[in-house]
Amino acid sequence: MSTVGWFGCALSGSRSFICSKIRQICSFGRSTGSLAPHNVRSKNIPWLPRRDGAMGYKQKRRARHSSFSDLQLEHGKQRMIGDMAAKLLAALTVLALLGSVSSCPPKPRTDGAGYRLKVGYYKGKCGRDVDVEAVVRKAVSKADAGVKAGLIRLFFHDCFVRGCDASVLLEPTSGSPQPEKLGVPNFPSLRGFEVIDAAKAELEARCPGVVSCADVVAFAARDASSFLSSGRARFAMPAGRYDGNVSLASETLTDLPPPFAGVARLRALFAAKGLDAHDMVTLSGAHSVGRSHCSSFSDRLLHIAKNSSSSDMEPEFAASLEKKCGVTSSNNNGSSDNTVVQDYKTPNKLDNQYYKNVLDHKVLFASDAALLDSWDTEGLVKLFADAYIRFPGLWEKEFGEAMVKMGRIEVKTAANGEIRRTCGFINANTY
Ligand code: HEM
Repeated sequence: MSTVGWFGCALSGSRSFICSKIRQICSFGRSTGSLAPHNVRSKNIPWLPRRDGAMGYKQKRRARHSSFSDLQLEHGKQRMIGDMAAKLLAALTVLALLGSVSSCPPKPRTDGAGYRLKVGYYKGKCGRDVDVEAVVRKAVSKADAGVKAGLIRLFFHDCFVRGCDASVLLEPTSGSPQPEKLGVPNFPSLRGFEVIDAAKAELEARCPGVVSCADVVAFAARDASSFLSSGRARFAMPAGRYDGNVSLASETLTDLPPPFAGVARLRALFAAKGLDAHDMVTLSGAHSVGRSHCSSFSDRLLHIAKNSSSSDMEPEFAASLEKKCGVTSSNNNGSSDNTVVQDYKTPNKLDNQYYKNVLDHKVLFASDAALLDSWDTEGLVKLFADAYIRFPGLWEKEFGEAMVKMGRIEVKTAANGEIRRTCGFINANTY
């Protein structure tokens, strides 16, 4: 799709923030006002005409100085045209980049139930005394930073396998001995279950049979993001999901991206869930918090230990990981499966540091490094790495939108789900 086409989609779509920023750039040629962003308040941008049609103060000043000589005017015009051209070129470059990452952003894989979720769904459902979302927030607030990171990952792993239906929480039973929880990508690394159980236990005690485990997982991921970003990645999470009844470890292998995936495979796995490369790059920023077991990336270290050029990890960074993981050339996978932090700089802060680490080749997984292997994903990495300087708050805003979009994947309803009493077991198994 053409750049303009993407722009058209994005104006009405979820990426309004970045578009408004881009339109701010575009609107530099403000004399016509035709490209001015409608959602940027003109009081912040003095040279923009105000929405009520009044002139901004710089316009007024310009009007007062209308006795400029023709020469000055001509000179001013030429400079403005030059400025406009430069800004337009910059804007088009960013647009081309974003346009290539995504054409019209696809909709998450959902039969429509995902779009019927509502912000504030539980308001009034448990009486006046029970604020459902506050119960979850309180439980999340008690967790340490590592478990909070685990909660963000828990939501991702839930949504990517059979949709956001809390299937990831189900325990093994005789009827289902190998649930998702025991799948290789989840066991033993996935964490945060106790936070979900604590919140659910309190909710069941105060408001039985109303709040789904799937919504508790979604709220917990939202709250963990907010806590870890000191409120910068704060977003409303629509709710109304039901819990699923099926959970199969085998599906974690087919549906979740492995850490050794290249960019084509990553794209395909996200596309299968209705998420595009833009969502993928945005959500990957969650690797600015939490930890990883050495076994998830030690193959990359091994290349360095063997002096091979096939890993592009920054050598000093690799050497420090080799030490922490106990990897030597004679001992391929390390002495024990230690854990290391994902983000060596700000390990407990959910921020755009991840993108800087990707550019510096200081990330753990081949799948992180692979974002530099196609020009569109690489461009977005660069944009987010630069975000604090040029577009403050950009990545956090986009992250929130992508989390909400992910939360719409294959949502269950009363017709094909239930509200579990205990998150680890379907209701048929709790009597
Ligand atoms: C793009 C494909 C992705 C791959 C291949 C991937 C892979 C991994 C792996 C292997 C780990 C380390 C697990 C361990 O050994 O302990 C991890 C950790 C983590 N991932 Fe991802 N991930 C991806 C995308 C995502 C997304 C979309 C999110 C959330 C939006 C996410 C959030 C996290 C978090 C927060 C951690 C740290 C968890 C903890 O500390 O317990 N990841 N990821």
